[in-house]
Amino acid sequence: MDNFINIVNLIYLASAILFIVGLKNLSSPSTAVRGNLLAATGMLIAIIVTLLNQKIITYEIIIIGIILGALIGTITAVKVPMTAMPQFVASLNGFGGGASTLVASSALISIINQNQDPTYYFSISTIFSVIIGSVTFFGSILAFGKLQGLISEKPILFFGRHVIIILLIIITITLGILVILNPSNLIFLCILIASAGILGLLLVIPIGGADMPVVISLLNSYSGLAAAATGFVLENNLLIISGSLVGAAGLILTNLMCKAMNRSLKNVLFGGLGAVATTQDDSAEDVYEGKVKSSSSEEIALLLDSANRVIIVPGYGMAVAQAQHAIRELSNILESKNINVDYAIHPVAGRMPGHMNVLLADADIPYEKLKEMDEINPQFKETDVVIIIGANDVVNPVANESNDPSNPIAGMPILEVTEAQVIVVIKRSLSPGFAGIPNPLFAADNTLMLFADAKQAALDLTTSMKNL
Ligand code: TAP
Repeated sequence: MDNFINIVNLIYLASAILFIVGLKNLSSPSTAVRGNLLAATGMLIAIIVTLLNQKIITYEIIIIGIILGALIGTITAVKVPMTAMPQFVASLNGFGGGASTLVASSALISIINQNQDPTYYFSISTIFSVIIGSVTFFGSILAFGKLQGLISEKPILFFGRHVIIILLIIITITLGILVILNPSNLIFLCILIASAGILGLLLVIPIGGADMPVVISLLNSYSGLAAAATGFVLENNLLIISGSLVGAAGLILTNLMCKAMNRSLKNVLFGGLGAVATTQDDSAEDVYEGKVKSSSSEEIALLLDSANRVIIVPGYGMAVAQAQHAIRELSNILESKNINVDYAIHPVAGRMPGHMNVLLADADIPYEKLKEMDEINPQFKETDVVIIIGANDVVNPVANESNDPSNPIAGMPILEVTEAQVIVVIKRSLSPGFAGIPNPLFAADNTLMLFADAKQAALDLTTSMKNL
């Protein structure tokens, strides 16, 4: 038996190595597909070994679960559009947290039913899993509702919320201690799940739609920590390792997103800024009146025709319009005229990490053409034309200039497009972006606005280039 357990643990170790190598490969778009396959292989091996190892009472329910899960997974993978990916990820995090809560609770109930006393090690692991899992489940469900538009995306702020949250944390910890001291009293366990759930809801309610991706990344990290705690409950080494990896990866991503938005995590979680602009800076009228120059696709095609170097800056509007394939066609025609084309990718362009990379890769745009902010910023001054397509906040010079701490983008690193010879901005109107503030770039001397849907504009530009 000992030998069997050793072999299982060795296979778990091999799976953990596959997870880690898979994660490492995910850090570059060119190796990401391989990374995904490696990690998925690790998971397949882990599942098969677990099914052989554990004392399984019946395989029927497991097989039904696998078939149902595979069906739901396949349908959602095909049906969910890229723009709905944040809420999809939110629901997956929620199910992960919910599963940890259920597994840890049933492990405790099973021990009680056998009239055994759980050890402190077991009980403490269980309450960690239950608390973090329940916070994750209820927080993620609320995040899903906000992003799906089922409830208001705006931050919902109410008087005394900080005090209520602190009180609830104290109540939750007290209930956790009560569960450890009286494991057979399942009422405490049920109230613990409920109070952690309310805590999850209260932590997400004050966060605005725009900050939701950061919160989702944090909830993703929580779902990993809940799984790691469940690993301790079940004494399953692989669950501990994989849960810790998800927990750490989620925290690193959360930190990177906060940095890219020049926000602290505390400000995102408790600042209540979200989609509401609170800035005292200039109004849209002051910024734009009499200064905005509108252009046409024919005029811009002429400009492009005489350019040597063009940089395309995609943003959220490109994702909404699904303009990536049309942009690829435009790039093709530019390159056929020996014009050098690159893409400038801001770390928080769009609404989720890597949003632009995924969409552009979907249109078969070569990875090496996607340049990160630090690499491309020094190159704008040698660029003839910058085409900004559906981006706004990530090119807003106010981020560099504003000293107003209530300005949602003050201090955020931006793509320095103003350095280019000519800037073409494609969007439908002068409406603000996610941060809700005007953008003086649209009124700059070297900016031309092309007011249109991103996809239609890219198609029109391609046609105009062909007609030259
Ligand atoms: P935004 O600043 O949100 O601007 C998007 C622009 O796209 C809008 O001004 C809109 O103007 C335009 N647009 C919408 N639909 C369009 C369409 N069909 N065709 C053409 N244009 C369209 O986008 P961004 O520059 O990508 O910045 C992202 C923002 O999201 C940042 O403030 C960032 O902090 C925030 N954020 C991002 C993330 C991640 S991880 N990516 C996470 C949290 C928050 P019109 O309505 O006039 O067309």
